[in-house]
Amino acid sequence: MTNINYDYIENYIRGLVPKKEGHLKEMREYALENHVPIVEEETEEFLKFLIYMKKPKRILELGTAIGYSSSVFFNASKSVEYIKTIEIREDMAEIAKKNHEKLNLNENIDIVIGDAAEVLENINEKYDMIFIDAAKGQYEKYFNLALKNLEKNGIIICDNVLFKGMIANQELVIRRKITIVKRLRKFLKDIEENQDFISSIIPIGDGVLLIGRKEDE
Ligand SMILES: C[S@@+](CC[C@H](N)C(=O)[O-])C[C@H]1O[C@@H](n2cnc3c(N)ncnc32)[C@H](O)[C@@H]1O
Repeated sequence: MTNINYDYIENYIRGLVPKKEGHLKEMREYALENHVPIVEEETEEFLKFLIYMKKPKRILELGTAIGYSSSVFFNASKSVEYIKTIEIREDMAEIAKKNHEKLNLNENIDIVIGDAAEVLENINEKYDMIFIDAAKGQYEKYFNLALKNLEKNGIIICDNVLFKGMIANQELVIRRKITIVKRLRKFLKDIEENQDFISSIIPIGDGVLLIGRKEDE
């Protein structure tokens, strides 16, 4: 469990989520068996809802892992035409590519192998939704780099921002995670204080941060 919500609340919500079928079910099972961290089930439902309501055409993802979230995002709304997802580990990217092929998504989802920050520096096209889910200690850097890629009225979503409860409760902090915790806390404070953006932290899954740029209304 994630230390964000009471276990009984999480279990209740997860119990309501329709059971996965087909290859997505196999991907979840693979992730569990092989300790690959993928989007929490209740976060998945929340993001599917957002995509369905907001209807993005183009999505940029940092942190592909086995290609689970990108597969879910593509199927969340007919509006989604294209996803670019960045992964540093070649072995993960290879698994993700095979998963996308099995789901017939490889024409619409591009996997770029490399460090997300370095790749971002060379991406100039715009996206309606940017999902940040790579190295937790680099979120503020990713955010600053990705701003140039955000479409007008686009949304940036960051997963795991409450990081197993460590961000809000010092007693939960594991020593070797201190740098990540400090950086995430700084990022959350900076975003909340920045008048150019509107943001909200949702205590679901491992904590989801939603950010929008204030546009002229
Ligand atoms: C939480 S997992 C992504 C899960 C995936 N978004 C999902 O929900 O199905 C984070 C991934 O980011 C990758 N990663 C870590 N540091 C990275 C970096 N600097 N650049 C790109 N990817 C990175 C890891 O190898 C890992 O596969």
